[in-house]
Amino acid sequence: MTWREYHEATKHTAESLRRARSPLDWGNMPDPFRHYEGVPVLDLPADPPVPGIPALEVLRGALGSTPALDGPAFLSELLFYSAAISASKCVPSTGYRYALRVNPSSGNLHPTEFHFVSRGVAGWPDGLYHYRPSAHMAEQRATGEIILNRATHPAPLVFVLTSIVWREAWKYRERAYRYCLHDVGHAWQALSLAARAMGCSTFARGHFDDDDIARACRLPEDEWPMLLIEVNGAPIPLREPDSAEIVWHAGRPNRLSMVEIPYAPIEGIRNATRLAAGCIPGPAPMEEPLPRPQQITLPPPASTPRGFGETARARRSALDFAGGEQSLSLPQLSALLEAASTPFSADFACTRLVELYLYVHRVDGLAPGVYRYWRELAGLEQLRTGDQRVVAAGLSLGQDLAGNACVAFSMIGDLDRAAHIYGDRGYRYVYFEAGAIGQRLYLGAEALGLGATGIGAFYDDEVHRYLTISPAQGQVVYHFAVGYPISDPRLEA
Ligand SMILES: Cc1cc2nc3c(=O)[nH]c(=O)nc-3n(C[C@H](O)[C@H](O)[C@H](O)COP(=O)(O)O)c2cc1C
Repeated sequence: MTWREYHEATKHTAESLRRARSPLDWGNMPDPFRHYEGVPVLDLPADPPVPGIPALEVLRGALGSTPALDGPAFLSELLFYSAAISASKCVPSTGYRYALRVNPSSGNLHPTEFHFVSRGVAGWPDGLYHYRPSAHMAEQRATGEIILNRATHPAPLVFVLTSIVWREAWKYRERAYRYCLHDVGHAWQALSLAARAMGCSTFARGHFDDDDIARACRLPEDEWPMLLIEVNGAPIPLREPDSAEIVWHAGRPNRLSMVEIPYAPIEGIRNATRLAAGCIPGPAPMEEPLPRPQQITLPPPASTPRGFGETARARRSALDFAGGEQSLSLPQLSALLEAASTPFSADFACTRLVELYLYVHRVDGLAPGVYRYWRELAGLEQLRTGDQRVVAAGLSLGQDLAGNACVAFSMIGDLDRAAHIYGDRGYRYVYFEAGAIGQRLYLGAEALGLGATGIGAFYDDEVHRYLTISPAQGQVVYHFAVGYPISDPRLEA
C-alpha cells in the first residue's frame, strides 16, 4: 500500500459513513493510560513554577526564562505544561468521570505516549523514562547511557513520542492513523512551546530508522515511534553524564483492551511510512508555490498578557460555539494566523507543507466568505463571497461548531510535494505540521480569551470541490474552528 492508496481509502463520503455505521464496543475501550509495570517510579515534584511569559509571545518565537531548578523540578515543569492531566469531565447522567490533558487528542483517546532519554541532568539518573500522566511521575525503564541515534546526541533530554494506534482505531477504524499523526503534531508543539516558555529550544526529528528506535527503547509491538524531540538550553540543570552500564528494568506494558482488531490499511500505511537503516531520505527542497498578490493586508496582531502556563493548562476544546453576534477583531485573527505561521524547528520543516483556507463567518472588517491565507505576505485572498456557515458545518460532517465559530479553517496539505521530497514518509510530516498548526491555534485562541476545536472529520473530496483545488494542489488534512465557546456542563476543573 502507498500513502496515496491509504489516503483514498480513508476519505469520508456519505457512502463510507453509511458502511461504517456500527456501535462502539464500550466494553473493549482501550485504557487511555499506558503503564510499564514493575519498574521504579520517580516522583516529579508537585507545584512546579508557572511559566509566566505571555503565551502569544512564545507563539511568536520568544524565549521565556526559568528560575534555577534542580533536574526533577525542571522535568516536572516541562511535563506539567505539556502533557499532564489538566482537568476532568463528568457525564451527569452516568457519573462517568474522565481526565483531560494539556495536549488535546481526537476523541480524548490519547494515542501519544511520551518517553524521554536523559543524559547529565542534575539530580536525575541518566536513563530512559516513560511519563505516567495519571500520577505525574516518571517510570524508569533503564538507567545508564541510552544511545538513540547518533544525531540526537548530546542533547541532555530527548523525547520519543510514540503512538498506540489501536487506541484511535477502536473508534475511528482505518482513518485512525491520520488522527494519531495529528495528535503527535499537537504533542510536539505542546512540548516544544512549553520548553520555549522555560527558555529552552527544541529540534524535532522525523527521519529515523523506526526499528532502531523501537529496539533502543524496547517498545512493545503496539507502540510505534513517531517523533524524536531534542531539548537544549541553559535552564536545564546539568552535571557530568554518567558513564554507567545500561541496566534495564524495561517493565511490562499494561494490556489496554481485551481484544485488538487489526486494520489492514493501518498496517499498510505503517509499512509505507516506515524508514529502514540506509534509506533515510535527505530533504531535497522543492520550490514552494509562489504567493499571489493578496487583496487584504492584515493589521498588526493583537497581544494579551495572559501567561503561557495558565494558557496551556486552561486550553480546552470547545463543545460548540455561541453562534450569535459576537465577532473576532481583525487583529485577533492576525494574531492567530501569525501563531500558525511561526517557523518550526524540525528536520522536515525546511519547507511548509500546509496552507490555510478560512471560512470567515464573523470577523470585524472582513466580509463573510472563503479566503486563502498567504503566509509570506501576511495577507488574505478572497476566493468566495457570502455566508459560509452552513457549508463549513456541512463539510465538517455536519458538525455545528464549524458553522457557529467565528472562523473555521481547512488545512490543505501538499501531500504530493511531501512525497516528492521525503517519499511515503512525507505523509507523516504533513499531518505533524497540521497538528502543530492546530496546537498553535488552540493556544493562540485561549490566550485571546477565545475557544477552539480541532476537527478531524470532514468530507474530503467535497472540501476539494468547494475550494476548487485539484489533488495536485493539495488535499484537506485537518479542519479547525475558533470562536466564543459555549460552557460545557461536564467540565469540572
Ligand atoms: C486531531 C483532532 C481531531 C479532533 N476532531 C474533533 C471533531 O471532529 N469534532 C469535535 O467535536 N472535536 C474534535 N476534537 C477535539 C477532541 O475531542 C478533544 O481534543 C478531546 O475531547 C480532549 O479534550 P480537550 O481538547 O479539551 O483536552 C479533535 C481533536 C484533535 C486533536
